[in-house]
Amino acid sequence: MKTFISISLLTIVMLISWISTDTLNHSKNRVQDDEQTGLRDQIVIRFSHVVAENTPKGLAAQKFAQLVESESNGKVKVEVYPNSILYSDGEEVDALVNGDIQMIAPTFSKMTEYAPKWKVLDLPFLFENDEHVERVFNGKIGKDLLQKLDHKNMLGLTFWSNGFKQMTSNERPLLNPEDFQGLHFRVMPGTVIQRQFALLNAKTTAQPFNNVYRSLELHELDGQENTISNIYSKGLYKVQSHLTLSNHAYLGYAVIINKQFWGKLTPTQQNQINSALSETTKWIQEEAKKMNEQQFEEIQQNSSLQLHTLNKEQQKAWKDRFAPLYQELKAEIGSTQIQSILNE
Ligand code: LMR
Repeated sequence: MKTFISISLLTIVMLISWISTDTLNHSKNRVQDDEQTGLRDQIVIRFSHVVAENTPKGLAAQKFAQLVESESNGKVKVEVYPNSILYSDGEEVDALVNGDIQMIAPTFSKMTEYAPKWKVLDLPFLFENDEHVERVFNGKIGKDLLQKLDHKNMLGLTFWSNGFKQMTSNERPLLNPEDFQGLHFRVMPGTVIQRQFALLNAKTTAQPFNNVYRSLELHELDGQENTISNIYSKGLYKVQSHLTLSNHAYLGYAVIINKQFWGKLTPTQQNQINSALSETTKWIQEEAKKMNEQQFEEIQQNSSLQLHTLNKEQQKAWKDRFAPLYQELKAEIGSTQIQSILNE
């Protein structure tokens, strides 16, 4: 009898211990389940762009992604898709508006179709130097321009910098306006840029960024304009023979988010994104300058590209040639904005 009672007691104790271990394991599993639920709740921002990762925009997008992730404790995740792997520059605005992706950072010229006032930023010789550009981006004019993007399910959040554009060709040095005569250039879409080349008596074809290398390599086109970082990272210097440091116009980006998506975020999430963006914007303003300088040195030292600089007279001749463009744009969008940027 005694033995029977002992065995029964032992069985009960073992049973209780097994049940509590099992409960503990379950609760451990539940912790994991909570994390899983957390992951399901994670907000994902798909950020698509068209340039390489080792460019100002490519690095800024990655930095922004890291900052958002740490500010939100992983609750908001930014997935960056570089090099047109998701959408080329002709497709990315539609993809954003339709909500297939949530963020993009196209160049100014690519936004002029949606916000004609943005044409002002493509004017040649509008900006004196980087400090002038930054005063415009960071001040009231920049804020007004961003508001102009607020339609068609887009919301303009900030400006990201790249740098001044330079001219390249595989025909001859481009120093005087006459040197452009009859040459065929790749341009980004945008009427101001097309008109700029028309005033130089050159032909243009608007083409997505990821086609440029091949068109130049095949000599379908003679030249193009871009920043040093784009010329370097896309290898355009390998398929061109001349580069003129013309600094004739500025290339920067509008950072845009899908408006409906933005409206569904909590104020805390919006603040986290805004704070990550403002840190990235400051960072890229400095980093873009350094990167363009370093990559220019690389080109200078390690390529056979012939480099030229505009002297004062040549620069004046370009400016004179572009003067009608200012008059035409004033007639189209009014003179206030152009004047206020020049005065800034
Ligand atoms: C280009 O098309 O040349 C540029 O817009 C690429 C970029 O986004 O910098």
